[in-house]
Amino acid sequence: MKIIASNFKTNHTRKSTQVFCENLKNFLQTQNFPHKIVIFPPATALLEDSFTHFRIGAQNAYFTENGSFTGEIGLEQLNEFKIQTLLIGHSERREILGESQAMCAKKFSFFKERKFEIFYCIGETLDIKKQGLQSTLDFLDSQLEGIDLNYPNLIFAYEPIWAIGTGVSASLEEITTIHTHLKQKLGKISLLYGGSVKPNNVKEILQIDSVDGVLVGSSSWEISSFLEILKNSL
Ligand code: 13P
Repeated sequence: MKIIASNFKTNHTRKSTQVFCENLKNFLQTQNFPHKIVIFPPATALLEDSFTHFRIGAQNAYFTENGSFTGEIGLEQLNEFKIQTLLIGHSERREILGESQAMCAKKFSFFKERKFEIFYCIGETLDIKKQGLQSTLDFLDSQLEGIDLNYPNLIFAYEPIWAIGTGVSASLEEITTIHTHLKQKLGKISLLYGGSVKPNNVKEILQIDSVDGVLVGSSSWEISSFLEILKNSL
């Protein structure tokens, strides 16, 4: 079993998420689909995590039950939708919203204590990549600071920033190299790849031994494209 996750980012409304999920449900209930599927809608479009064939997760939450953190949601808001799956450390939060490693680690600890399934993202910039493999590995290592690698409900996603939203995925060789190194460190933790995964490359990426699944952005936003990805993953 592999994992196929869709990160909606800042796309879709509650209404369109409902339509998307209904379509996905109809597709999945007609067959015995072997992979685990997770959908991460924006906060305003969270649906109750009660679908039989796939899970709903949140893209972000603050390390609090509730309180004064304008613009954020906390445990109380997630509980309303029975959400127990959370993305932490996506590069867009780190790079665009200035989320530090310390902040990622605090979120991790808070939601680990509450037994959330955590999809934890790491990935290097193009500048770091250009400095060579060792710089890339050191950089990725720095993104593990404060993260308990023995937490059983942890899933990693390697998402090189230079491959996100560019239409050009990392090559199979690049993915294999980084994943093989990361696996030595992460042991049995599942490791997904993300960055321009599309219907026409998902199969070959999933065929890499050290790839336990994919985290898809833009190519998952249209249900027809996401269903293509699911079909091609078989
Ligand atoms: P794209 O699939 O659009 O490159 O985005 C990947 C991503 O950031 C998933 O979290």
